[in-house]
Amino acid sequence: MIMKRIPLISDASLHLLLPLIFVSLSWMMIGIEGHAHHYLGKEKVTQLHFFFHDTISGDNPSAVLVAQRNGTKVGNGSPGQFGEVYVINDPLTESPDPNSKAVGHAQGLYVFAGQKELLLVFAVDFGFTSGEFNGSSISVLSRNPIMETDRELAVVGGRGKFRMARGFANLHTYSINTIGIEGHAHHYLGKEKVTQLHFFLHDTISGDNPSAVLVAQRNGTKVGNGSPGQFGEVYVVDDPLTESPDPNSKVLGHAQGLYVFAGQKELLLVFAVDFGFTSGEFNGSSISVLSRNPIMETDRELAVVGGRGKFRMARGFANLHTYSINTTSGDAVVEYNVTVFHYV
Ligand SMILES: *[C@@H]1O[C@H](CO)[C@@H](O)[C@H](O)[C@H]1NC(C)=O
Ligand SMILES: *[C@@H]1O[C@H](CO)[C@@H](O)[C@H](O)[C@H]1NC(C)=O
Ligand SMILES: *[C@@H]1O[C@H](CO)[C@@H](O)[C@H](O)[C@H]1NC(C)=O
Ligand SMILES: *[C@@H]1O[C@H](CO)[C@@H](O)[C@H](O)[C@H]1NC(C)=O
Ligand SMILES: *[C@@H]1O[C@H](CO)[C@@H](O)[C@H](O)[C@H]1NC(C)=O
Ligand SMILES: *[C@@H]1O[C@H](CO)[C@@H](O)[C@H](O)[C@H]1NC(C)=O
Repeated sequence: MIMKRIPLISDASLHLLLPLIFVSLSWMMIGIEGHAHHYLGKEKVTQLHFFFHDTISGDNPSAVLVAQRNGTKVGNGSPGQFGEVYVINDPLTESPDPNSKAVGHAQGLYVFAGQKELLLVFAVDFGFTSGEFNGSSISVLSRNPIMETDRELAVVGGRGKFRMARGFANLHTYSINTIGIEGHAHHYLGKEKVTQLHFFLHDTISGDNPSAVLVAQRNGTKVGNGSPGQFGEVYVVDDPLTESPDPNSKVLGHAQGLYVFAGQKELLLVFAVDFGFTSGEFNGSSISVLSRNPIMETDRELAVVGGRGKFRMARGFANLHTYSINTTSGDAVVEYNVTVFHYV
């Protein structure tokens, strides 16, 4: 597909806010002394502006394909790239000119996580190497619907001067005549709200139209007796979220990203997934989940580390209950109750 060559040069503006709450964290550091008190200080808002160069072609690519579907069919109309995983080290520059001053690098990975559309999910550290934020970085875990010219990414954390940061990035795909970004001058957090979301996730591995595809696994490496055979498997997912356990019930959104079998001794997943909603009040918003998911436990909790849209700057947790699992195919239906703290 020609889409593969889509330039991902983006003009990204990042807005960062440091959270207000850090009061009780030291209590949780059991057995560690001497950092009892950390005071965040006054929360600041910083706007960063740079251009992101994603180069797939040529002899010196900044993004390399490292995994993809192994022939798994994914249904008519699916972008051929569904499942592709790229590891990136993309330069960030001051202007769209790749030879302009470098301000940092975006390092990590992105996956093509749209089963129906061309969409990326980023799990990327944006590290800065110049100016006031030299040595600092921000962490992004977010969907990136690259076919939309203007879009928002969730900033879920940071290092250095961006410790404890949360925020959002507005991206604009650069083209010769449109450089500017306007209108993000003022953002106020407002009062914190709590929202409860309830839905069912359908993870389908089998059949002709799977929503989860295996893209990488161990290459014969032995991992010891008693290890689950799946240790090391990486799946890219685009799992529908519905109102009831019935797969034909109303679709509320999609969980897109990847999960890995990360238990050397037990069957356990780690999720790096954007849950995007497409109906109701939260249409266009999403939450970012980076968390272990001990699937053998019937009831379990996942960490919500950020969000987009109405869930900008969100934090929260998700309570999961396995509604059904087909042990032959691995297909599962999981009930989610998500508690989200957010501002918009
Ligand atoms: C692809 O899948 C087939 C069948 O499962 C397997 O035999 C083959 O080794 C796989 N190839 C790779 C590169 O994983
Ligand atoms: C950024 O910080 C590194 C390490 O402290 C230093 O070596 C480098 O010169 C700094 N770069 C700029 C442009 O300030
Ligand atoms: C597995 O590893 C061996 C040895 O490193 C290599 O020759 C082979 O090509 C690898 N196979 C795949 C499917 O990556
Ligand atoms: C959700 O938002 C999109 C884009 O704004 C719009 O096209 C779509 O109709 C909305 N869907 C619902 C169910 O409100
Ligand atoms: C979700 O909340 C509903 C209503 O409170 C409850 O019936 C259900 O058991 C909860 N499920 C999970 C997985 O927490
Ligand atoms: C479980 O999966 C197997 C293999 O895909 C399938 O043959 C079987 O019908 C499924 N069972 C149920 C209850 O859906």
